[in-house]
Parts: sequence; C-alpha cells; structure tokens
Amino acid sequence: MPDTLTITDNRTGKTYEIPIQHDTIRAMDLRQIKVNDSDFGMMAYDPGYTNTASCKSSVTYIDGDEGVLEYRGYPIEQLAEKSSFLEVAYLLLNGDLPNPKQLQDWEHDIAIHTVVHENIKRQMESFRYDAHPMGMLISTVAALSTFYPEAKQVHCQENRWLQIQRLIAKVPTISAFTFRHLQGHPYNYPVNGLSYAENFLAMMFKMTESEYRAEPAIVRALDILFILHADHEQNCSASVMRAIGSSDADPYSALAGAAAALYGPLHGGANEAVLQMLSEIGDVKNVRSYVDGCKNGEKRLMGFGHRVYKNYDPRAKIIKRCADEVFEVTGRSRLLDVALELEKIALEDEYFIKRKLYPNVDFYSGLIYQAIGIPVKMFPVLFAIPMAVGWLAQWNEMVTDKEQRIQRPRQIYLGDRTRDFVPMEKRS
Ligand code: CMC
Repeated sequence: MPDTLTITDNRTGKTYEIPIQHDTIRAMDLRQIKVNDSDFGMMAYDPGYTNTASCKSSVTYIDGDEGVLEYRGYPIEQLAEKSSFLEVAYLLLNGDLPNPKQLQDWEHDIAIHTVVHENIKRQMESFRYDAHPMGMLISTVAALSTFYPEAKQVHCQENRWLQIQRLIAKVPTISAFTFRHLQGHPYNYPVNGLSYAENFLAMMFKMTESEYRAEPAIVRALDILFILHADHEQNCSASVMRAIGSSDADPYSALAGAAAALYGPLHGGANEAVLQMLSEIGDVKNVRSYVDGCKNGEKRLMGFGHRVYKNYDPRAKIIKRCADEVFEVTGRSRLLDVALELEKIALEDEYFIKRKLYPNVDFYSGLIYQAIGIPVKMFPVLFAIPMAVGWLAQWNEMVTDKEQRIQRPRQIYLGDRTRDFVPMEKRS
C-alpha cells in the first residue's frame, strides 16, 4: 500500500498524489492544487489548530483517548512517584534521566543562579500593593532580558544553556517575590541548601524564624504538582513560546509571552477559576443547580474538559491522591466536599459523559494550593514555575530544528478589496 493520499479536485477534475509521513500530509503539498495558474493554491483552514501539527517533537507524548502522558517516553505516573522535579527538568531538557553525578551538578547549576539582581527586586517593589502576581511575573521575566543582553545569541548552544539555567533558577524567586509583595512582607532571598520546592516554600512563607522548614508532605506534594505541570507538548503557552522564539527573540521575552498565554482562564487560569466556582457554589446542596446551569450553557464547569484528553486526564488522578496527603497535614477544606459532590454528579451526567468531559489537572490543584496557604491570585504563577521548564525544552528543540522557520500563519481574507479613499466631508 503506498503511503500517499490521492485527492481529486472536482472543480478541475485533476488528481493529485500527496505523500503521507507519520499519518500526516504537508500543508505545502496542497498548494499545487489550483484552478488556474493565477490561483494562489489550496490552503488548510484550522482555527485553534485543532488538527495541525506545527512541529516534530521528542519531548512529550500524549494519547488523549487513552489518558497517556509521557515525558521523553517515561509515564507521568512513574515520574511523579519516583523522581524529583529537577530530575524531571533535566530529563525534559536533555532527553535522558540524569545519573547521580549529573543530577548533583544540575542541582548545583540551578542553585547558583537563584538570586536576582537588586534592581529587579526594586523594580518589583514599585508595583501597586495589590498588583496581580501574574502581571508582575510576566513583566519581570521580560525585564530580565535587559540584564542578560547576550541571551539574544540564541543559536549558541552554550549561551542557550546558561539562560535556561538562569530562568529555571530565577522564576521561583520572582514568583515568591510576587507573593511577598501581595502580602506586604519583605522579600525573602533564596536558600541554596534546600530542594527546589523547599526553597520556594521558604521564600514564600519564612517570617522571623531563624530557619524555615516546610512540612515534608507539603514539599513532596508541591514537587509532584511541579512534575505534573512541567510540560504538556504544544499547548497554548508552549506554542506561544515557540512562536515568539521563532523570530529569534531572546528566551526571557519568549517566556514572558508564554506566561501571558498561560494567564488566561481557559489555560493556566483555570485552577483560579475552579476555586472561584467552588466558592460561588458554597455548599453541597447547591451543586445540582450549578451543574444544570452548565448544561444550559449559562456557564462552564471549570476544571472539567480538555482539548486533548477525552478519556481522563492522568494528572488529575495523581493530584487527587496528593490532595488526600496534603489534607492530612493541613486539615480538610470545606470546598473539598463541594468538589467531590460536583465530580460525582458530573461524572454520572449524560451531558458530560456524551461530551467526554472529565476532571482535568486543575480541578484539584487549586484546593491543594489553598490548603498550603497560597492565595488564589498566585495559582497561575504556581503553574508557570514548572511550565518554564517545558517552555524552555520546547524552545530549545525549536531553535535547533532545521525545518522550523519564523511562524507566520496564513488567513482567508474575507474583507473589502481596493476601495477608493472617501474624504471626511463625504462620509455619512
Ligand atoms: N463545562 C461545560 N461544558 C463544556 C465544558 C465545561 N467545562 N468544556 C466543554 N464543554 C462543552 C462545550 O460547551 C461543547 O458543547 P457543545 O458541543 O454542546 O457545543 C463541548 O463540550 C465541546 O467543547 P469545546 O469548547 O469545543 O472543547 P475545547 O476542546 O475547545 O475546550 C477546554 C477545551 C479545556 C477549553 C474546555 O473544556 C473548557 O473551557 N474547560 C473549562 C476550563 C478548564 O478547566 N481549563 C483547563 C484545561 S487543563 C489545563 C491546561 O492544560 O491548560
């Protein structure tokens, strides 16, 4: 059987044979399909890129129908159970798990870059007292590019690697500063003897005690949440990272753009929206009417549904287990009962079953963050910290991919053509 697709254009009766590779045809192969010589040629129309591959990648594999998520071939369940976040970061960026020496060096390389320039700190202090932490994170990461102008040399591998280390190290520091700003508390500097998650918690919560040590169960839960959120192949924010990076912009500017994409409530803002929704429902007895409202199309059940997972989100299962462990330490949240009832009703309801809508990663992550003492406004920031690793892995892959070019989609133009200018006095 030849690996080709035969297309007959019924407008002209002409037949074209188009090669198939990886179950995919090249969109440019459609361009030869023309009605006449002056015709531009056939294009594919795909708003939201629901069926368009923008790249070849070896970073993350998702099978949405089977509920499979793998980083570099390793199932997410095994990574969440057996590895640390920095180990997973190394895997995503390098393609293989580190050996003990490589991990030790990698942890050291990240630890030595956690401090930010004092002017970055001062700049952050100038935000309004109630500035949204995500706005602060996005603009501060963009500002970092002015401190590292050499980051523009994106085709130098050594230089790229240095910026990758800096970003993975500094994003948690900046993130913790946004929280301290929101609280009106002095910013805490990083402590390098601590693990990645432990150091982040210390920068967030240390007050006047000489040493801050977070509860081990909370540290582990946060590390697992970071692992689950580290990459999700070509999602909206990773695509933005690649799109900005495709113009050879420096990684700080590209990552600021990716974080901006993450901020939207349909993407990284969803766990914030879940908590708002649970608070709005308020009580188990109100769940049924809320679900009815979702079915009428009045609202969306936040934390439900996914563009890719149409069976279940494997991350949601792991997170639910994490939530139980955290609640054992922190006590049970009132909203957990509302969430459990909501999940139960929705999973039995014909509307959600028919549309393959299941709880996604964000359904429970917000409840865990809230139990740890992290305010809702910080939720997208907590998503951005681990995603920075995925964005950088995607960016690094894109920069070294010889087939990639500056991203520049086509459009179907449906507007007016070549109109004569109308002087002001003649316009009605
Ligand atoms: N509640 C109620 N109905 C829904 C929901 C929902 N959460 N999600 C989808 N639907 C319905 C939708 O109305 C449509 O129904 P119909 O066919 O009758 O018009 C059908 O299901 C298909 O929806 P869609 O909008 O075409 O699906 P999509 O793949 O474009 O959207 C989604 C995916 C995640 C944006 C969407 O499910 C959603 O808005 N969910 C709530 C927000 C959320 O939890 N987002 C976090 C995603 S996971 C984190 C991440 O990776 O970013």
